[in-house]
Amino acid sequence: GIPKFVKIVEVGPRDGLQNEKNIVPTSVKVELIQRLVSCGLPVVEATSFVSPKWVPQLADAKDVMDAISTLDGARLPVLTPNLKGFEAAVSAGAKEVAIFASASESFSLSNINCTIEESLLRYRAVATAAKEHSVPIRGYVSCVVGCPVEGAVPPSKVAYVVKELYDMGCFEISLGDTIGIGTPGSVVPMLEAVMAVVPAEKLAVHFHDTYGQALANILVSLQMGINIVDSSVAGLGGCPYAKGASGNVATEDVVYMLNGLGIQTNVDLGKLIAAGDFISKHLGRPNGSKAAVALNRR
Ligand code: HMG
Ligand code: MG
Repeated sequence: GIPKFVKIVEVGPRDGLQNEKNIVPTSVKVELIQRLVSCGLPVVEATSFVSPKWVPQLADAKDVMDAISTLDGARLPVLTPNLKGFEAAVSAGAKEVAIFASASESFSLSNINCTIEESLLRYRAVATAAKEHSVPIRGYVSCVVGCPVEGAVPPSKVAYVVKELYDMGCFEISLGDTIGIGTPGSVVPMLEAVMAVVPAEKLAVHFHDTYGQALANILVSLQMGINIVDSSVAGLGGCPYAKGASGNVATEDVVYMLNGLGIQTNVDLGKLIAAGDFISKHLGRPNGSKAAVALNRR
């Protein structure tokens, strides 16, 4: 049956901002993270220790980490693509990291400049270092239903990469529909294949809303026993290496749906809407959450 509590992993400051062309000042990023933590969100992904040539928007990762070093109340993981990133993250005070592989070969090459197998080798090194430092490590798999280049991605391929990340010690694996192309029709068979190799309680779902399918996909995932959902305040986001991918599902819309289902999240929807309005105003665009827009009108 449907879970009583859903853990929301807020990815706005990372996935949401990474694709923004205009550099957002560090102080704005920091205020966004502070506001999100004060909403009661248990996990707020803060930034990435990736190449600043690849993702210029997050080149201030160290400064962001310095500014949030005394913030408590939430876990504040960061993305690390390799050992260099892991070491920089730990030096900057990161207490949790995430590694990110792909179920599609083409996307692996365009996103992290290596094949899937090469990435798994790199990530095994990161996982070993993380274990030595007692740093919990989350895994992401991108393109779990479709790839911008290859089209449909077979569920068996997703299950393979998920199992590899699980076996190297990831405490949780997030299944990313990077380009938001999935429907319950493709998400259900993908989840069935993945849940045959890794228990449902270790899995998170990460939907982008490009085709407006994210909430439907989340609902079927919950019905299949998933209880961790990634989302982005105000629906910010997109991936720099997935052309045309729109934002993540808006956290406000997820919380609104979960409230309606009587599922607890611990998140204060009013404060969340204010946080989404804060960053949308800074970016100079309307809030991408339908629930936020509707509730603001009342
Ligand atoms: P590369 O060019 O192959 O790396 O990039 P390299 O090892 O050949 O090194 C080249 C240069 O980069 C060197 O510097 C390195 O020191 C430097 P140089 O000698 O030229 O001055 N470098 C680094 N600098 C800072 N931090 C590092 C780092 N590593 C190397 N960690 C690399 C390979 C993986 C680094 C690059 O491709 C990269 O940074 N990619 C990250 C792309 C990214 O962040 N994508 C978005 C996140 S994934 C996503 O959004 C999907 C997700 O949301 C789930 C979903 O939606 O499906 C998670
Ligand atoms: Mg994403």
